Amino acid sequence: MNSERIVIIGGGIIGLAIAIELRLRSFAVTVLSRNFQQAATHVAAGMIAPQAEEIPPSPMLDLCLLSRSLYGDWTSKLERISGRETGYWQCGILAPRFTKPAKIVSQDSAYWLDREAILQKQPGLGDQVVGGWWFPEDSQVDNRRNLAQVLLLAAQNLKVEICEGVEAQKILNRNSQVIGIETNQGVIEGHQYVLATGAWSRELFPLPVYPVKGQMMSVRVPQGHKSLPLKQVVFGDNIYIVPRRDGLIVLGATVEDVGFMPHNTPQGIQSLLSEAIRIYPSLKDFPIEEFWWGYRPATSDQLPILGASPFANLKLALGHYRNGILLAPITAKLIADLVAEEKSEPLLQHFSWQRFADSRKLEKLEI
Ligand code: GLY
Repeated sequence: MNSERIVIIGGGIIGLAIAIELRLRSFAVTVLSRNFQQAATHVAAGMIAPQAEEIPPSPMLDLCLLSRSLYGDWTSKLERISGRETGYWQCGILAPRFTKPAKIVSQDSAYWLDREAILQKQPGLGDQVVGGWWFPEDSQVDNRRNLAQVLLLAAQNLKVEICEGVEAQKILNRNSQVIGIETNQGVIEGHQYVLATGAWSRELFPLPVYPVKGQMMSVRVPQGHKSLPLKQVVFGDNIYIVPRRDGLIVLGATVEDVGFMPHNTPQGIQSLLSEAIRIYPSLKDFPIEEFWWGYRPATSDQLPILGASPFANLKLALGHYRNGILLAPITAKLIADLVAEEKSEPLLQHFSWQRFADSRKLEKLEI
């Protein structure tokens, strides 16, 4: 085993994915997790959807496409280590539209289907659907019921030290080095540190990361259906409908800039239901299963903050906003490369904390 200990602050998908990657490279790894259930990992719908999310051509799209290309191997590896399925499903994503785009250029792995063709692919879409995009390479994973537990089990099986209920309160530093993490259970020390604290990152580090609330719900295919009525994700303008293989269907999500305001609201749920029924009317009769909500870790430019920090031995993996499930494999790989080998993939320069360096607090390293 490598004698260096890496302390990862944050036990959501990003923290655990990095922990596993570093453990596989023989580091001793400790994960500080305030509350495993609170992470956005447990809230998301699990879409792996760079194309359906309409991320414009940019380094962010490159990062997302790279991560999508790693997903199959990454989930297989986690399944081998944990002995459990992740629910990764290469089902493709259909994006129906109510108005025809001004310009339609079908390209590799993005195909425009007119109304007749989209109804052949997905019968039962609403009357107002004029056509839509088919993204066969976008996919999904069952993050809530499978992947979150698989990550935890894999980390445990690899002997990552997981400190659940340990709240990081302050990053202790001296001479541009982190020297420990002050927690509710004393100071925890390592050789290197990774901050992966999601929507709560600002409590520890003065970067513009803030919560964007999402409300979610699920319904179930009624008994009597011989086969699944939805066989791919349906992604509309303000709604996505994510069918799982066992008949559960996840509906999401609101996008609310309301801070850490808990609970589902009638307005939030009403908007999910009306958009979902407009795009796929038979949902109106499906039994409701569950409601939940959570907080996306957004940044002021909606791009993640990845890589080096003002402290030589602290790396950042924050602010994945709408794409945390998608970006987990590439984040784990790039951050592990950086921690283990000081190897910085050129793509990382676009996600540096330094784009926010005009923050006075950061200049003075007042953390
Ligand atoms: N990735 C979808 C969302 O954040 O709602």
